[in-house]
Amino acid sequence: MCGIVGYIGSKQAEPFLMEGLSKLEYRGYDSAGIAVFNGEKIVVEKSVGRLNALREKIKGHIPQGNIGIGHTRWATHGCPSDVNSHPHVDCHGEFAVVHNGIIENYLELRKELMARGHHFASETDTEVVAHLLEECYQGDFAVAVRAVLKRIRGSYALVFLAKAHPDMLICTKKDNPLVIGIGQGENFIASDIPAIINHSKESYILNDGEMAIVRADGVEFYQTVSGEKFDKEIFTINWSAEAAEKNGYEHFMLKEIHEQPKAIRDTLSGRLDITNNRVVLNELNWSLTDLQNFHRIFIVACGTAYHAGLVGKYYIEKLARIPVEVDIASEFRYRQPIVDEHTLVIVVSQSGETSDTLAALKEMNRLGATTLAITNVVSSSIAREAQKVIYTMAGPEIAVASTKAYTTQLIVVLLLALYLAGLKQTIEPTEMEKILCHLRDLPEKIDMLFAQTETIEKLASHFKDKNDAFFIGRSLDYAVALEGSLKLKEISYIHAEAYAAGELKHGTLALIVPGTPVIALATQRHIHEKTISNIKEVKARQADVLAIVPRDNTSIEQVVDHVFYIPETVDLLAPILTVIPLQLFAYYMAVARGCDVDKPRNLAKSVTVE
Ligand code: F6R
Repeated sequence: MCGIVGYIGSKQAEPFLMEGLSKLEYRGYDSAGIAVFNGEKIVVEKSVGRLNALREKIKGHIPQGNIGIGHTRWATHGCPSDVNSHPHVDCHGEFAVVHNGIIENYLELRKELMARGHHFASETDTEVVAHLLEECYQGDFAVAVRAVLKRIRGSYALVFLAKAHPDMLICTKKDNPLVIGIGQGENFIASDIPAIINHSKESYILNDGEMAIVRADGVEFYQTVSGEKFDKEIFTINWSAEAAEKNGYEHFMLKEIHEQPKAIRDTLSGRLDITNNRVVLNELNWSLTDLQNFHRIFIVACGTAYHAGLVGKYYIEKLARIPVEVDIASEFRYRQPIVDEHTLVIVVSQSGETSDTLAALKEMNRLGATTLAITNVVSSSIAREAQKVIYTMAGPEIAVASTKAYTTQLIVVLLLALYLAGLKQTIEPTEMEKILCHLRDLPEKIDMLFAQTETIEKLASHFKDKNDAFFIGRSLDYAVALEGSLKLKEISYIHAEAYAAGELKHGTLALIVPGTPVIALATQRHIHEKTISNIKEVKARQADVLAIVPRDNTSIEQVVDHVFYIPETVDLLAPILTVIPLQLFAYYMAVARGCDVDKPRNLAKSVTVE
């Protein structure tokens, strides 16, 4: 949700600002802007549209200077337009600011400031920050920033540039991420690691309530409330620069789909102990007594991560026999869940920054629950807030549509369920062994699926002009159907609904007419016949049915119109294979419909607003 960058050093600021923003476009891409101090004044350039529009606009008169800030926007307050784009400035162009988040009390502040004669150029919440800074400034930049922070409420990552202080940028944050990349005679600020990874692997991760004064030759840290100076540990980034590039793939999404075998291998690494028939999760170190303290588990997440949670419920209840409830984070925190010291709350988040999930986690910590985060980003806000963390090892996920993060989340929830089951001895050793061996072989099976990509492309070309689609399945297949339908919706803009196959007949079957696309998942053997009956129900209404089934289930060919086979595995692992053709299906549908796969309309990655 909005990408922000800053540069100070001996080089020109603009190249880093534009490159950094291009790496952060997944966080928002409805408009962009930069502000550079050119030795005389702060030059601001902004444009509605993608970063390319800004690139075109500044061609031939690129702002020159060694210090600057930039922003790529996902509109919250005020429509996407040139004036609403960041950076925002005060009345006299003395200060420029970029912001990610929401200033909740901006209306009252705006009214006050206008009454005192300030002129507002935009409809944004952010502009009040620039005008407040103008009022609070009495010669000391840092003191003025701290005074502004006392006046604003809400969530923010902010970077400030002041004409009178061309040797420093000031940045601060609350509930939105900020990272500072350490260079040689230059320093970089960004909302996320991909923006700085080409320039530095050494970084500082800012915490809430901290402020940094960033100069070309060093960074100083202060507590925003007390003003007390402190030292911060350097954080070494372990992602490679190439991991944040497309490497020859047409889209990040396609690249990330193909990275799943490696992401899964990396996530399993060191955690599968086949010799001793157990799962190793050193992150937890729980004893049986610790487990007995958990009377129930909540899994809390949003979007795709929530879908991973639904699979997690199934795994934990089946294998470890602990009751699990799965909640959407934005609902959970406001529904007064019954949580106490006997509750384990697991939050799942790729980015580790999702506002709803983070807020739910904070609330659960306050209520005395044990909290565990499953996240992909080391040192993210969620990783730091949770009492325990298990990392997925997916590497950077840039495409807005989540793919490898989801499959690695499934791996972790399964490892967790097996770990709990091992401790509680609710699983037979032979069953454990079978699952562990199949888990080890999973990456190879995903590679086998890629060999059938052409089939998916043909199916996408067959279905591409449809406006609606249904995804059905029972049990684990239903959880995966939800993810398949979300993938299709978000990148191809086809209305898609996922239904528990047995539930269709309770109303929604009315929507099945001749030619309606139905993607039916039938991988779970214990309810196979029931699912087939449900498929027959939609076939009887002449739906155009694609079934995704295990390789040995050839009899399905007599029932449906199209079949896609997944390699043989245990039923519990089928979701991790089934979702791959669904991801590819959504991808090729989007490509066939001419959609912008990596930057779908209205969306952005890392949703840091409520
Ligand atoms: C969909 C997608 C979103 C995210 C959701 C949570 O493809 O990416 O639904 O899964 O916004 O994000 P994280 O996992 O970062 O908390």
